[in-house]
Amino acid sequence: MKDPSLRRSATLFRAFLREQQEPERCYTLLARDAADQVEAYVPVKDRVVVDIGGGGGYFTEEFRRRGAQSFLFEPDPAELGAKPPEGAVVADGYLLPLADGVADVTFSSNVLEHVDDPQTFLSEMVRVTRPGGLIYVSFTNWLSPWGGHEWAPWHYLGAERARARYERRTGKAAKHTLGENLFVHHVGATLRQVRGRDDVEIVSARSRYWPFLAGAITKVPGVREIATWNLLLILRRCP
Ligand SMILES: C[S@@+](CC[C@H](N)C(=O)[O-])C[C@H]1O[C@@H](n2cnc3c(N)ncnc32)[C@H](O)[C@@H]1O
Repeated sequence: MKDPSLRRSATLFRAFLREQQEPERCYTLLARDAADQVEAYVPVKDRVVVDIGGGGGYFTEEFRRRGAQSFLFEPDPAELGAKPPEGAVVADGYLLPLADGVADVTFSSNVLEHVDDPQTFLSEMVRVTRPGGLIYVSFTNWLSPWGGHEWAPWHYLGAERARARYERRTGKAAKHTLGENLFVHHVGATLRQVRGRDDVEIVSARSRYWPFLAGAITKVPGVREIATWNLLLILRRCP
């Protein structure tokens, strides 16, 4: 995949900064961008794309717009929102109600950091992907500047302190609690675990949003934990 442009990164970052005020715009842009990343490897038209933990369905809708048969599996009805895509299924990514090998593409955007056992989650993605099919996984690693989500970047000083600070400052309950719905996953450990698997090959490991050196960053121990920001893995299921 070609390194994307600075302009694209700046546009995504600006949309991300206004995510609370303009969620529709932010997620529509992100969905388009992610679908472009998938289509850099495989056209989705007439393919089966399974979106796991897809929230309100922006990604599923974008894949459908491009002619895919796309299906949303989301465990939290509240995340589905008021108008989920038709046919959305309330289901956990650990245990998908799907037969083996039904999907040409399995897709999960920013879900892995919300699961306690990413390797089991990944195994389920692999199971439902056909041999030769593509697996798109991206997540915000713990030491990313956004690792603490709404309480970032104070997570660098400890999760409890960051969470308490957020609640004090905003007067709102934090959405995430470490160990409950947000987990510590690192770039290096994740790459080693995925490399150790015999059911997938890594097609690409890169920073999802960086405009340059996106692949190189993920190769530098230590630095990658902060600089990657969000790790994107494109995997192919082994035959
Ligand atoms: C930050 S949101 C990401 C939503 C969307 N994929 C995106 O990129 O905007 C994290 C999502 O992961 C979902 N999730 C958490 N645990 C999950 C699990 N075990 N299986 C599938 N999805 C899960 C949450 O319900 C939530 O919708």
